Parts: sequence; structure tokens; C-alpha cells
Amino acid sequence: MLTIVAALFPLLVGVASEFVLLERRDGPPPGFSSIGPTPGSEVLTLRFALSSNDIPALHETVYDISTPGNALYGKYISQEEINKFVAPSADTLSRVSSWLSGSNLTSVPVTPAGDWISVNMTVAQANDLLAADFSTFQDQTIDATVVRTLSYAIPRDLQGHIDWVHPTVKFPVTGTRAASFVNRIQTASAKPPTSSVSISADCRVNSSWTPTCLQELYGIPSTPAKPTANVLGVSGFNNDFANKRDLKTFLQLHRPDMNPNTAFDLITLDGGLNNQLPQNAGSDGDPDTQYTIGLATGVPVTYISTGTLPNDLLTEMLDQANFLLRLENPPQTILNTNSDLSIGLESVVSSAMGISICNAYAQLAARGVSYIVQTGIWGAGGTPFGLCTPFDPPFPASCPFVTAVGGTFFDNDEPEETGAFISGGGFSTFFGRPRYQDAAVSGYLQATNNAQATAFNVSGRAVPDLSAIAQVSYISDGAIIDAGSATAFSAAIFASIIALLTNERVAVGKPGLGFLNPLIYANPGVFNDITTGSNPGCDTPGFNATEGWDPVTGFGSPSYPKLQKLCAAL
Ligand SMILES: *[C@@H]1O[C@H](CO)[C@@H](O)[C@H](O)[C@H]1NC(C)=O
Ligand SMILES: *[C@@H]1O[C@H](CO)[C@@H](O)[C@H](O)[C@H]1NC(C)=O
Ligand SMILES: *[C@@H]1O[C@H](CO)[C@@H](O)[C@H](O)[C@H]1NC(C)=O
Ligand SMILES: *[C@@H]1O[C@H](CO)[C@@H](O)[C@H](O)[C@H]1NC(C)=O
Ligand SMILES: *[C@@H]1O[C@H](CO)[C@@H](O)[C@H](O)[C@H]1NC(C)=O
Repeated sequence: MLTIVAALFPLLVGVASEFVLLERRDGPPPGFSSIGPTPGSEVLTLRFALSSNDIPALHETVYDISTPGNALYGKYISQEEINKFVAPSADTLSRVSSWLSGSNLTSVPVTPAGDWISVNMTVAQANDLLAADFSTFQDQTIDATVVRTLSYAIPRDLQGHIDWVHPTVKFPVTGTRAASFVNRIQTASAKPPTSSVSISADCRVNSSWTPTCLQELYGIPSTPAKPTANVLGVSGFNNDFANKRDLKTFLQLHRPDMNPNTAFDLITLDGGLNNQLPQNAGSDGDPDTQYTIGLATGVPVTYISTGTLPNDLLTEMLDQANFLLRLENPPQTILNTNSDLSIGLESVVSSAMGISICNAYAQLAARGVSYIVQTGIWGAGGTPFGLCTPFDPPFPASCPFVTAVGGTFFDNDEPEETGAFISGGGFSTFFGRPRYQDAAVSGYLQATNNAQATAFNVSGRAVPDLSAIAQVSYISDGAIIDAGSATAFSAAIFASIIALLTNERVAVGKPGLGFLNPLIYANPGVFNDITTGSNPGCDTPGFNATEGWDPVTGFGSPSYPKLQKLCAAL
């Protein structure tokens, strides 16, 4: 951390206290320009991340209770127990509260452990307290404005007590999303895949997959799950809606054996809605609900709609995690396919904020939740927004406490399921390699002689963990959409499988599967190894799928019967 003295801040001339810089950036990102200082009287709601008591102990606990064979396996802990690790120390609380009350400011905790507080203050107060220069920036692409500062600092005696403040230096990703997504969409191939896998001819006709064909490909049962308290939660962010009529059309078309009125429950936060205007059907909400309900037959699905905070998806993600932590019984499987973040990747998240979000997922892991995310559609990196030096890994997939799902398809030139070229994969710059994947990832690096080692951080958490079909057919606004590939679909398929397996365990009185990765890395044989395909990105050939784990397909695609056998024996 860089220490700077007050004199370096023109604003602070004459102020005695020494400040420590927390975060800074050279200028606004492309597309944004400053239109001048924000009026001092404007009110900001700032979130402060307070340093936790003992995050390493939280992580150790998560590994203990998630590692098969450990005496604590499956012994998930309560939020009260988690709070002991995550809460700030009494010293931190008293320093921060006396600092704020010196300016007559009050805070409210916004997380169960109180490690994250919200404070309303005027721009003038924020500039003073944080040695900041809050200004108004115009986003040319969508003609909206945001208030941000290019740097901020805290008094030296709070160093080690406040991790970060948000929103400050992180700008929203806006504008070009739709156009870029279209560029990566893979057109449905006209030629049928000549698969050597024994799937029926009918399923080989079309390159886009349907629930029936996926059931056949991965051995997923179509018989309804036994009724239990197990729930599959599907995340919606930024008011991305799930349309009930599209779901019904989908079930009538693809699951004629199911009740077409099978619906999802709704929970909302941050002003989330689930508007049913057909044209507002979401590009995540629709396929996510259709593929979870259409594959996790009989498992209740709850759509978790998070509203639109002003230009602040990262806060929405933190809010969602903390909302789930407050529930007495959070859904045991959570799918998060947010596509804004799939273009965002690590480069649009500060490492401080990324670590906080990941620690919220670690808490969900400690509660026994399987949190399943996609790895995005940018191959080894290279979004229009991101950085390529090093490759830009997907976030939140790069968090070591989530299960990251990459993409596959049947390519005309390949007789087998192959790594999809869109499949996000690579190595984190925020998170070190967790020990559960050490052997698998070292094996890959050795086998490939660290090809392109300069382009990525060899010691980072590697993704994906596994993969599944990335091209499916779904219904949106009444129409069949089947030309695009996205690992969001892959993640929805895998989350459905996990929800079914969890249900089987819960039905016989066993705990759910919780955080999956230690189980996955100890049992690679339950996946169909995928050894062809690559994920070009950043104007490079990217990584190759290889035997065993690789940064295109992880361990490969799931085999339900093998997973079922494994999970039943736990
Ligand atoms: C805080 O409030 C008290 C009482 O209203 C006032 O006297 C004092 O000047 C205020 N201090 C600041 C820093 O605004
Ligand atoms: C901050 O302001 C918002 C909007 O006016 C309000 O809803 C919220 O309760 C306030 N928070 C605090 C900590 O005072
Ligand atoms: C393949 O596509 C055709 C035309 O869209 C459709 O009629 C048929 O049901 C599809 N087959 C399968 C197995 O999905
Ligand atoms: C590589 O990852 C490790 C572990 O997260 C981190 O300590 C290191 O700073 C990273 N290096 C680079 C160049 O990103
Ligand atoms: C991928 O395979 C190609 C062809 O065999 C090889 O030239 C290249 O070095 C491989 N890339 C990596 C990252 O291993």
C-alpha cells in the first residue's frame, strides 16, 4: 500500500492528519469523461468494507466441511458461527465509529456480520473524509452520468481497519454489451454433428440442445424429484426478468411430460421486480428458468430478482449474497449467470471488491450452498473493456469458493463433445490457486510446458472446474432462440444436475452437497473428459483442451449416473 502525505493532496493542504491511499486510477475508463466536480451538497450512499476478524479461519472451515473424508464433511455451520470469523473486531468498530461520529455521521450494518456498513454523506463530507475528489462523469455510450472519484484515502490510524469504499474508483460497464455479445454468438451450424457418442439421431439433427437431448447426453433423469425442502435459486440482476408465459411455451414444446404450468417462486431485493411484459423477458432470466425447471424435474425453483442500483452491479452482487446469508434456509443450489459480468471479468472489478464478494460466497459455502457460475463467453480473455496483459479471467468464476462452468458443443469437425471456442477459462490475478486444484492444474501446466506463461498468472485460481453444452434452444418473447452459445446455458445445466443430486440426498436425510470443488477435484472420473477444442482470446490461440483438467473445459462434462453413484456413497 502506498503511503502519501497530506501535502500531495491539494484538497488537504493544512490538514494535519496523514492519509493512506486505498485505491486510485489514472483516469476514467474509455467512454467516460468528467463534466466537473459534483456539487458538495449532493448526498452519496457509500459502503465501507471493514476488516474481518479472521477470514483465513473461515476459509479453513469451508475446506474442512466441503472435503469428503474430513470428519467435518457436510457439517455446515450457522450464520452466528460464521459471524465470529467475519465480524470486525471491537477495536475496528470503535475506531470507525468515532471517525464517523466526528463528522456527525451514522452507519448501518448491511451484512449479517456487520463487516460492511453503509453511510450517507454529502459529497463535501466524502471529499474531506476520504481525501477524494468526487466528480460527475458522463458515459457517452448510454448518455448517463455517474459520480466517482479517481482516488481516495483513509486516515492512517484506520489502515488495516477499512478494506475499501464503494462506489469510488470503479466505473460501471455499460453500453456496448449487446453489440459485443452478438459478435461472439456462434451461428447454428447447418451440418448435423456427426457424433460418435450414442445419442439418438433425433438429438443429432439440430446443433442447439433441448432438455430431452441433454437428458440423453448426460443421463439426467426425467422422473420428478421427491418433494423435499431443497430449492434451486436462480439469480437475476439489474431487473433481468423471467417470463412465465415463455416458460410455459418452453415446457409445452420440450417437456410435454411435465405440467406446463410448473412455475417458479419469486424473491426480490434492492427493488427487484419481475415484470411480465413479453418484450421485457430477460436474456438470462428466460433461459435460466427454462433450463432449470426443464431439467431439474420436480425441484422447486426460486427466481431471485435483484433490482437496478444506480450503475452498480457489484453492490447488487454483494447485496444478493448477504440477502441469502440472512435467510434461515437459503436455497441449497444457486445459479448466477449474470451476463454483464461475463463481459466484465476481473479487470472491471477491483481486487478489494472482488475479494469481498468472494468472501460472501465463502460464507454461503459454509452454510452448505452450492454456488454455480458461468465462465463467460470471452475465451482466454479479451473483452472490448478488459485487459489482455495478462489474460483477463472471468469473475466471479475466479472466486475459489464457487463452481465455475465452461462451455462445450458438438463441432462439425469433431466426432466428440468438444471445448467451445467461447468457453471462458484461465488463471486469476486476484486469488491464489486453492489446494483442492493444485495437482490438477500443475499437471496441466507441466504437460503444456506453461505455454504462454507470460500471458497469465500461473499461481492463480484456475477456471473452469468443469463444462457442459453451451448451445441450447430457448423461448424469448414467444420466439425460439437457438443461434447463440453461452456458458450461462452450461452453468444452468450443471446447476440443475446438482439440484437433482442434492434432492436425492436431502430425501434420505443427508445434508446437501454444499461447496462442490473439493469433491469435484477428488473425483475427476465422474466427468466425460474433453480433449479437443480451444478458447482463443486476446488475439491469441488461448488454451487447449487436453486430457485431464484444462482451462477450456475443466474436467469435462458431467455424467449424471457417475455423479449419482458418487453422491449416494458420501
Ligand atoms: C455535529 O453536530 C453538533 C450538534 O448539532 C454540532 O454542534 C457540530 O458542529 C456538528 N459537527 C460537525 C463536524 O458537523
Ligand atoms: C441513506 O439514504 C437512503 C435514501 O435516502 C435511505 O434509504 C437510507 O436509509 C439511508 N441510510 C443511512 C445509513 O442513513
Ligand atoms: C430440430 O429442429 C426442428 C426444426 O426447428 C424441430 O422441429 C425439431 O423438433 C428439433 N429436434 C429436436 C430433437 O429438438
Ligand atoms: C499472481 O497470483 C498470486 C496469488 O493470487 C498473487 O499473489 C500475485 O500478485 C499474482 N501476480 C500477478 C502478476 O498478478
Ligand atoms: C495448443 O495446441 C497447439 C497445437 O498443438 C500448440 O501449438 C500450442 O502450443 C498449444 N497451446 C497451449 C497453450 O498449450
